[in-house]
Order: sequence, then C-alpha cells, then structure tokens
Amino acid sequence: MPRRGLFVTLEGGDGVGKSTHARRLEQRLVERGEEVVRTREPGGTLLGAQIRELVLHGDHVDARAEALLYAADRAHHIATVVRPALERGAVVIQDRYLDSSIAYQGAARDLGADEVRELSLWATRGLLPDLTILLDLDPAEGNRRMGAGRAKLDRLESEGASFHERVRAEFLQLAAAEPERFLVVDASQARPRVSAEIDDAIRALLDERDREGRSGEDAGAEADARPRFATGRRARRRAHSDAEAIRLPAETPAARTVHAPDAPIPGPGLHTASLPTVTGDASSRDGAGGAAPGPAPHGGA
Ligand code: TYD
Repeated sequence: MPRRGLFVTLEGGDGVGKSTHARRLEQRLVERGEEVVRTREPGGTLLGAQIRELVLHGDHVDARAEALLYAADRAHHIATVVRPALERGAVVIQDRYLDSSIAYQGAARDLGADEVRELSLWATRGLLPDLTILLDLDPAEGNRRMGAGRAKLDRLESEGASFHERVRAEFLQLAAAEPERFLVVDASQARPRVSAEIDDAIRALLDERDREGRSGEDAGAEADARPRFATGRRARRRAHSDAEAIRLPAETPAARTVHAPDAPIPGPGLHTASLPTVTGDASSRDGAGGAAPGPAPHGGA
C-alpha cells in the first residue's frame, strides 16, 4: 500500500535535547519499516552548511540579514531534501523549522512573528509540518545541560537569559495557537518519559496516515490520484494556510528494510560529507534527493 510522507519537526530552546530525541525517534521508526530522513535547519544541505557557518559562527549579523539567511537555508533545504523525501513517502524528522525563526528572529529579535512566519511560508511554498514536537524547558536548565557538553557556544546560544526567555514564551504561544499541530512535552522529565510521550504522538500520526491510506484504497484508484491533503484533520489545518499545499504523488516505495549507516548530521563548521541521514529503503535514494551526500538533484515541488 503506498504511504504518504510525514513531516515531523522538533522545536525548543537550546539544550532541550532535540537531537537526542530525533535520533531515538529515527531508530524506532526504522524498526517499524519506515524510510526515515533525519535532517536539520540550519545546515541540512551543502549550501545550508555554509549558511550555518555564516549565521552561527561569523561576526555580527544584522537581525534582518539573520532572518533572511535562515529563510534562504530553509528554502533550499525544503525544495531539495524535504519535499522529495515526502513525495516518495518517507518520514522526515527535522531538528528545527519555521517555528524557530518565529521564536528567535520574530519574537526574541523583535522582527515580528507574523512577518517572519510569512517569510518562511514564502520560502517553503507554504509547507507546514504534520506534527511539531515542542520540548519545553527552562532556558537556565537548557544552558546548564549545554554547558556540560559544549566547549564554545554559538552566536545565538550566547545571547542573554531574557532573549532565551522570549524564545521559550513564543514557542509556547505558537503551540497554544495551533494545538492540532503541536505536542508540548515537558523536557525536564526523565528521558524515557519524554520519549514515551513522543512515541504516543507518532503512533497516532502513523495510524491516522494508515487509516487515510485504507480509505483511499476503498475509494479506488481515482481517490489515490487525488492530493493527499484533500481530506482529514491535517488537511483542514493546511487549508487554513493560504499558502500552496504540497501535492503528494500516489506512487511511493512500499518496502523499506535496508538500513543506511547512521551518518552524523554536520555540526558547526563547513562540512562536505553526508548531510541528512536516510535510513530505510536504499533503492529510493537515487535521484529523489536527500539521501546521497551532497545537494539533491530535484528542485522542489
Ligand atoms: P541548533 O542547530 O539547534 O544548535 P546546535 O545543534 O548547535 O545545538 O540551532 C542553531 C541555532 O540557530 C539555535 O540557537 C537556534 C538558531 N535558529 C534561529 O535563530 N532561527 C532559525 O530559524 C533556526 C532554524 C535556528
């Protein structure tokens, strides 16, 4: 049965544990037979790795320039990695997306949440996640956790306490405004508890997708050819956005059993090797983007 792709993002302040939970989630989904693309912003493409270096490790960057750099990274990443992966039916697990821009640039840098959101929606042709997991934590605790494992903080991490308080408050406000998209998890809980809450939400999402798939089959081949977002709870959510909805083709790979090696997502610095990690069906990797090292060949939907 063809499956539609799912777009899951992890958000939260610095040091809340997003990368750890993204890795765990990837593992569990691969065990379920899903093709998984684990990626991040900024820096999920070769171009993005260069932008990441500029925005996080350069000298002073004007706030509007900073917002545009994150948006440029996002535009390229979504077009060349994320959309192709969703179109072939993969689950994309992404560390940070547009909500980070709204919280950091829109709120904490005071550029305006609406303007920054619109910029990101323009950059991505209106792609919104199926599920956004917000790991909520007191920034002082996040700072403490980061300090334990990090020699040097980047430009954003080095901002003061009130900046990070504004980021947290905005994330919570975004989650309250879109409860159907967000799952808010108290990241101060023990790790297994946090994992369990994430697992429950993912299971519900996969079940919903599979139900949609079955009702599509019942309705026959004609239904399968329709855009996948024409019905259901998430479709209504997308319809609320006046941005263009992603169109997913009916044809996606079914069997996903081959596990790719777990290549690290590039950290700070210029990286020329593997970018997003793809675990799952090796046969789906060529030509679809996001799997092979380097920029993907397809230019978006
Ligand atoms: P992240 O990759 O989560 O940091 P690390 O892996 O080094 O812990 O994010 C880098 C920083 O970029 C983080 O402080 C948040 C910031 N950021 C924004 O300000 N706006 C954005 O749109 C994104 C995606 C990140």
